[in-house]
Amino acid sequence: MIPASEAALDLHEYLRLHETKDLLRFITCGSVDDGKSTLIGRLLHDSKLLFDDQLAALQSDSQRYGTQNGQIDFALLVDGLAAEREQGITIDVAYRFFGTEKRKFIVADCPGHEQYTRNMATGASTADLAVVLVDARKGLLTQTRRHSYIVSLLGIRKVLLAVNKMDLMDYRQDVFAAIERDYRELAVQLGIPEVQCIPLSALAGENVMRRSQAMGWYAGPALLEHLENVAIERDVQDIGLRLPVQWVNRPNQNFRGFAGSIVAGSIAVGEEVIALPSGRRSTVASIVTFDGDLPRAGEGQAVTLTLADEIDISRGDVICAGKHPAEVADQFAGHILWMSDAPLLPGRPYWMKIGARTVPASVTEIKHKVDVNTQEHLAAKKLDLNEVGFCNLNLDQPIPFEPYARNKALGGFILIDRASNATVACGVIDFALRRASNIHWHQLEIDRHARSASKGQAPLCLWFTGLSGSGKSTIANLVDRRLHTLGYHSYILDGDNVRHGLNKDLGFTAEDRVENIRRVAEVAKLMTDAGLIVIVSFISPFRAERQMAREMFADGEFAEVFVDTPIEVCEARDAKGLYAKARAGQIRNFTGIDSPYELPEHADITLHNVDVAAEALAQRLVDQVVERIGHGKG
Ligand code: ADX
Repeated sequence: MIPASEAALDLHEYLRLHETKDLLRFITCGSVDDGKSTLIGRLLHDSKLLFDDQLAALQSDSQRYGTQNGQIDFALLVDGLAAEREQGITIDVAYRFFGTEKRKFIVADCPGHEQYTRNMATGASTADLAVVLVDARKGLLTQTRRHSYIVSLLGIRKVLLAVNKMDLMDYRQDVFAAIERDYRELAVQLGIPEVQCIPLSALAGENVMRRSQAMGWYAGPALLEHLENVAIERDVQDIGLRLPVQWVNRPNQNFRGFAGSIVAGSIAVGEEVIALPSGRRSTVASIVTFDGDLPRAGEGQAVTLTLADEIDISRGDVICAGKHPAEVADQFAGHILWMSDAPLLPGRPYWMKIGARTVPASVTEIKHKVDVNTQEHLAAKKLDLNEVGFCNLNLDQPIPFEPYARNKALGGFILIDRASNATVACGVIDFALRRASNIHWHQLEIDRHARSASKGQAPLCLWFTGLSGSGKSTIANLVDRRLHTLGYHSYILDGDNVRHGLNKDLGFTAEDRVENIRRVAEVAKLMTDAGLIVIVSFISPFRAERQMAREMFADGEFAEVFVDTPIEVCEARDAKGLYAKARAGQIRNFTGIDSPYELPEHADITLHNVDVAAEALAQRLVDQVVERIGHGKG
């Protein structure tokens, strides 16, 4: 039995103390309605890993809040703090530890998405088994199928199907048998090799800690019994050393160590290693740990390596066995579980966190999404909350990685929204795509400086944004004409025009607008490379894409010009009659009406286009441009 005080230890401490002991990590899938909290509460309670005062609090809480007629309400145990409880919300409680004579357990008990994120994001914490709960009254629901799909995606090979609330179905064998049959069929489709189905009542404690009297017809193990006895096979594939560098330790001139946890393989002093993505090689000079130097270290150990040669290694790089390096690529195909209310839009940049590295990444294409009920592949242009898609991803730099099937730590990732910093997806890398990486970047003989110098100007992208009818095109044209008159070389990319050619396949959904802006930003970039002053005049309603465009240009070569005209004014002018049509419901997704316009937060120049002649605004802008790019044209 683990002393109760260990309940307060953190995960790493717990693992360190029990490294050598038999340890099962599992996740629970199901909702509060299925009795998940009650089940875990009972496991924790009955394995006696509770302080006495915690138990006393639980008893008095059960009287106050309990839904179980004054008996202990086990759900309260995992449902968090009093305040949250009063609102009836289950809070994020991350990992729970408990133990019996036979085995130690870590259960990742978090609400829905949180547990998948943790499992994807920290390969080391990946579960050995998933407990999937279903309500005996309801059988398999879409949620059960989705969770099971994700379990298979996570590479978890063992499922314990807990058919709960059997008490409400009079402990009937036929009810259980039907659910078991359905689930086994699903498991075959999903390729989950090992399934144990157990009929139980978490509330009544039947088949939880010990076998139930009420279900004499069931000959299998109780839930805890199965958790205690199920075989744990950890991946033994030896793929060679993998050490993602968490930080570079350089306390003085004489010491330079690379610290991190070994996620696969082992390493000994004197062995050759290769640092990725650089590909530089060296040999291990020493393996430093908290408990002194070691001759050899292996998977799961936190170490600091020093090398025989001074080679450049940064945080996020991966040190690999010299003979078996990981792969390096910047484009991938993989599965993504989308977890945000706002949809995944191809082309939009997100942060990808993989191993110890965070890089800008975008989905270039959704190959298909998966119907979790039928496993059918469906065409998709975006992914909504809870949808799973098979996608191509593009990173802005090559990274070391491994397919998830081979190495969870270097193949699992999460995507983070760049504005809110919220985790919006988790995913697995299936394989690398060798596309741009096989195509050499061709250095042009005449470089961009030569091109702009011969035009006697510095290149610039003036990015106009604003509502339809705000006056962007009018002002852009006036600016273009003035610049032309002054002898500058300029060009206008206008939404209405570009949408007739290059972008004629795109409409006005959010995903099409993202692609619209991505393409025009690329074209604008080529034009500045050619030495031009390019004036982009698109609504460009989303902050994320305007930011993406900005990041494509060098400092000082991009200016965001916000044509700030209130929608009432645009609508009153309604030169193209589109507002009237949008109000009448004849045009859908109209910006400002039923499609958002996200106001610029950091516009370089804001033009208030009300009661001022467009000429005056254009003149002001040209003055600023000339100021910025030099008076070479006198
Ligand atoms: S953007 O949002 O993708 O940047 P873009 O600037 O290319 O839009 O195109 C906007 C122009 O398309 C408008 O000026 C208007 O003339 C026309 N248009 C047609 N339908 C819409 C719509 N639903 N929303 C906005 N503009 C539309």
